[in-house]
Amino acid sequence: MTRAEGTAQRSDTGDDELVRHAVDARRNAYCPYSKIEVGAALQSRDGRIFTGCNVENASFGMTWCAERTALVKAISEGTKDFVTMAVATSLPRAIMPCGACRQVLHEFAPDLRIIVVGADGARYVTFLDDILPEAFGPGDLS
Ligand code: THU
Repeated sequence: MTRAEGTAQRSDTGDDELVRHAVDARRNAYCPYSKIEVGAALQSRDGRIFTGCNVENASFGMTWCAERTALVKAISEGTKDFVTMAVATSLPRAIMPCGACRQVLHEFAPDLRIIVVGADGARYVTFLDDILPEAFGPGDLS
């Protein structure tokens, strides 16, 4: 059993609040092309919550995912120590962070706990090091 499977049912007390923030952030999504709203809420070890949404662009490749929006907001506010991220989507079923987001999150929080939730309300909990195994990171450059 992987760590992800082993913790799929686990729910910490702060999860409900974090998921609520991710669902709220979803409403700000700018997604005229995909029409898929995504919201993220990133919790730092000191308890702060940073939210983000996807921001699309007519030049499609310039799109920001919700997860990276939340992360960059947090870093730019001086916070670099994270414990959990919730990701909410308007799609019926939960979506996992894309490969680019996994790599960018790994830079700061390789063992980040991740809660994904779809419009159906079903949650799945996993860990970044389970969904980005053998990652390339800062340690490879020293
Ligand atoms: N999207 C995210 O915000 N996060 C992900 O992890 C996957 C994809 C957004 C980007 C784009 O606006 C839309 O979902 C469809 O790809």
